[in-house]
Amino acid sequence: MQMPPSERHGGNLAATAARLGCRPSQLLDASASLVPFGPPCAVRGSLLKAALGLASGSPLRAYPDRHATGLRASLAQLHGVEPDWTLPGNGAAELFTWAARDAAAAGLSVVPQPGFADYPRALACWGGAWRSLPLTLQASSGPQPFPVAPAGAVLWLTNPHNPTGALWSLASLEPLLQRFALVIADEAFLPLVPGGEAQSLIPLLQAHPNLVVIRSLTKLWSIAGLRLGYALGQPERLARWVRWRDPWPVNGLALAVGERLLADPLAYGRWCRRVQRWTAREGAWLSARLEALPGITPLPSAANFLLIYGDASLVPLREGLECRHRILLRDCRFFEGLGERWLRIGVQSRRHNRRIIRALRQECDS
Ligand SMILES: Cc1ncc(COP(=O)(O)O)c(C=O)c1O
Repeated sequence: MQMPPSERHGGNLAATAARLGCRPSQLLDASASLVPFGPPCAVRGSLLKAALGLASGSPLRAYPDRHATGLRASLAQLHGVEPDWTLPGNGAAELFTWAARDAAAAGLSVVPQPGFADYPRALACWGGAWRSLPLTLQASSGPQPFPVAPAGAVLWLTNPHNPTGALWSLASLEPLLQRFALVIADEAFLPLVPGGEAQSLIPLLQAHPNLVVIRSLTKLWSIAGLRLGYALGQPERLARWVRWRDPWPVNGLALAVGERLLADPLAYGRWCRRVQRWTAREGAWLSARLEALPGITPLPSAANFLLIYGDASLVPLREGLECRHRILLRDCRFFEGLGERWLRIGVQSRRHNRRIIRALRQECDS
């Protein structure tokens, strides 16, 4: 199958709209997994203000603060660490590139599969060798033990795991910090998971210089276009990454919005709880409706996306949804260990979840 690597990620609205002959705004994108009701009004206001400000020193006109001082202070306060233990990035994706440089220098990486394709992408930048840790595809919606990992120098883990939605228990992750020279923990979706923070590795950072935690703000706040993520880790490691990257990796608008989003830990907590209630409510609703469809089984998931498998290939179903209903689901053929019978669906608002179920039912009936 011919599909350029750049389109193997979800959320390729422009390319898909061009192929279908419609506008990106006409598509319902369930191929990426963003919170459907963000970003909050106050954030849109501050983004607009930042974007329109032309006075000297405004986020649009001035060079961004290379040290991201304000955002690092907010991150430090939020996670109870010193600011030099934090590093904002141009999305989590940029930070994987630098994590991979450390990983390649440390030796063989172990990467759970099926998994997020950006880790191999980042490792390939530095010629980093890696081997798969095959996962059994039997998730549950509560915390579960991380599988027995093969030998290696570096472990990449995603909590909750993408694409299965498995939430790894902290108790099963902690011993891995003794076994691996470097552990790179991607917690991009953890704040969206009800009870997820209790499984975070962040409290173990100070005691484990071989641990890096990477988080994303793009899903939680629905700002994927702005590009904003961050790493938490040992200051010497993060300072090294700063020396490697270009001078202004996080743009001024993203810094301004990030500061606005994270300045108040109480407001952050309220937003996360609202998002987690949505994940629980809509995830359960969508899963139950999918279960009732013929030939489709959803895997239990702790996250705001559901992996489904079919009795037969689901490619025609996905294509039907795309062409006839303008709904995008995630093609899973490029995930190692998955294939034609698998799709991933990002949970939406109730209205859009209904639209997805209606469309799937029509396609199944025909
Ligand atoms: C597990 C996981 N981590 C990180 C990212 C990337 O996040 P960002 O948009 O901050 O680069 C994604 C994006 O799909 C993801 O699925």
